[in-house]
Amino acid sequence: MTKYFSPLCILMIIWCIWAPISTASYDGTTYSSFASTECKRHPEEPLYDGGLLMDKETQYTWVNGSNLVLSPSFALQNLTKDTYYCFSAWVKTNDTSLTLIRASLTTEIETLNCTGTVLAQKGCWSFLKGGFMLNYTSNSPLLYFQNPQGKNINVQIANPALEPFSKEQWRLDQEYKINKGRKREVIIHVSNKNGLKLKGADVTVRQKSRDFPFGSAISASIIGNLPYQKWFTERFNAAVFENELK
Ligand SMILES: *[C@@H]1O[C@H](CO)[C@@H](O)[C@H](O)[C@H]1NC(C)=O
Ligand SMILES: *[C@@H]1O[C@H](CO)[C@@H](O)[C@H](O)[C@H]1NC(C)=O
Ligand SMILES: *[C@@H]1O[C@H](CO)[C@@H](O)[C@H](O)[C@H]1NC(C)=O
Ligand SMILES: *[C@@H]1O[C@H](CO)[C@@H](O)[C@H](O)[C@H]1NC(C)=O
Ligand SMILES: *[C@@H]1O[C@H](CO)[C@@H](O)[C@H](O)[C@H]1NC(C)=O
Repeated sequence: MTKYFSPLCILMIIWCIWAPISTASYDGTTYSSFASTECKRHPEEPLYDGGLLMDKETQYTWVNGSNLVLSPSFALQNLTKDTYYCFSAWVKTNDTSLTLIRASLTTEIETLNCTGTVLAQKGCWSFLKGGFMLNYTSNSPLLYFQNPQGKNINVQIANPALEPFSKEQWRLDQEYKINKGRKREVIIHVSNKNGLKLKGADVTVRQKSRDFPFGSAISASIIGNLPYQKWFTERFNAAVFENELK
């Protein structure tokens, strides 16, 4: 029997088995994607058991942002370059209205003014999540929390966490999650038009489209601007309008 490989005659049945494939074990710390927009009666447990901030007491330091204000802060030690630092904390203020609280990091060299923000208020705890990376080593940086306008409010911090990830750990963690969450095992059955299985057929797989929305905000000027349209559609498959939707 001659094997006949015209694409028309080959029935391909593909199905997915809902089982993760080759989740090569990764035993480092896994990035926590936990987030909460709810203002809670009680702060929840710190991520990563607090990481570098485990058992660290909040200090109150006078810090000059736009005004000199007494700010809850953490004196850190020896932050290394090219490390992803992820931090989070539960925040409460004594202000009855929702107030913006910003986390900043001052090193020997610069101030990173915004490494995370949250709208916090009186009577309940809001979750702030942020992070930073330095391209130099800092021996004694200060992480602090204030209102950017220097509003005189009392800010309280509970259950903070700061967890470092080396670039390698970060990549391994990503790979692990991609393998676990985004890949599925596929079995391809190839048969001829009579339904006879063709053993050992060569199968070529080519991605023709993607299901994963990857987009950006666009401005209305894209309508009627061909180069902009071309540039955009070559890169993205999802969009939202900017000002037009405000
Ligand atoms: C704090 O910063 C503000 C604005 O930059 C400045 O006007 C003020 O003099 C500073 N206060 C102190 C004590 O450094
Ligand atoms: C931080 O680095 C300095 C200088 O390299 C060293 O003396 C100190 O012990 C380090 N501190 C910690 C907590 O690792
Ligand atoms: C942070 O804010 C201070 C004071 O407002 C400003 O001088 C500084 O340039 C800012 N730093 C960055 C990295 O934007
Ligand atoms: C760190 O990066 C900034 C800009 O991204 C650059 O201006 C600065 O020179 C770098 N510093 C070091 C120590 O590499
Ligand atoms: C909040 O605390 C600050 C600093 O302790 C105080 O000056 C302010 O009056 C307090 N605000 C309210 C609304 O209690």
